[in-house]
Amino acid sequence: MIPAHMTVGLSDHRVATTRHFLMCRPQFFGVTYSINPWMDPSRGADAATAVRQWEALKSAYESLGHKVSVIDPVDGLPDMVFAANGALVVDGKVYGARFAHQERAAEAPAYLDWFAQRGYPVKEPAFTNEGEGDFLTLDEVILAGTGFRTDVAAHLEAQEFLGRPMITLRLIDPRFYHLDTALFALGDGNVCYYPGAFSEGSLRVLRRIFPDAVLGDEADALVLGLNAVSDGRNVIVNAEATGLRDTLTRNGYDVVPVELTELRKAGGGPKCCTLEIRL
Ligand code: ARG
Repeated sequence: MIPAHMTVGLSDHRVATTRHFLMCRPQFFGVTYSINPWMDPSRGADAATAVRQWEALKSAYESLGHKVSVIDPVDGLPDMVFAANGALVVDGKVYGARFAHQERAAEAPAYLDWFAQRGYPVKEPAFTNEGEGDFLTLDEVILAGTGFRTDVAAHLEAQEFLGRPMITLRLIDPRFYHLDTALFALGDGNVCYYPGAFSEGSLRVLRRIFPDAVLGDEADALVLGLNAVSDGRNVIVNAEATGLRDTLTRNGYDVVPVELTELRKAGGGPKCCTLEIRL
């Protein structure tokens, strides 16, 4: 971490790169089942509010110059808005998802078909994995989460298909059931994470590879502040993560706050709604 008096001019060094994202409008969103501790079907959720908040997220990407494609939502798949789980796309190759819970199973072919119809080479996986929810791509490596959803065998399968080295990280807190609820790539080779979500051995791995990582605390994690998207300079983050927003600003990033309170009722934030298409 960098002391405040040394950060003057730091943001001048932060360079944004243009991204291509796939998103899914939450037209059929709701909390009708519970597959993580955030979801309470008796409380439900409102699709109209979710759509309004989602549109603001999409506009935020577009005003930063990023390209957003959309996939048609499917009635009966309330979690399909969480596009990050739909696949992992690296070098234009698409490693498909295979969901841990039956409730979301039909999302996998919907996403894979979207890519296949557009000519992307796709691979249907043999092992359970929830796409970019548990696979976070950096320039040199892919950080791969396990513990709740994605099977470690999928890490190896994806590595063989994509030819990118995987670093397996074990998640231990059920509230942070996907890697992307506890860690995000800052887009400049560094990462930001909440240490409490990881096993002791995985924490040692993170500290070894990212000695200068930006850290979030439990309060940040509990508003899904770590479920953020960075383009190397601009970080789109849940507005309520006030501590993390200050930390990122002090480290020279431009914070773009968004309100996704309705989607958080299903356990998702900005990153969950966003699948990066890397060519
Ligand atoms: N309700 C969804 C689930 O439990 C939320 C998924 C959030 N996605 C993510 N990439 N973390 O599967």
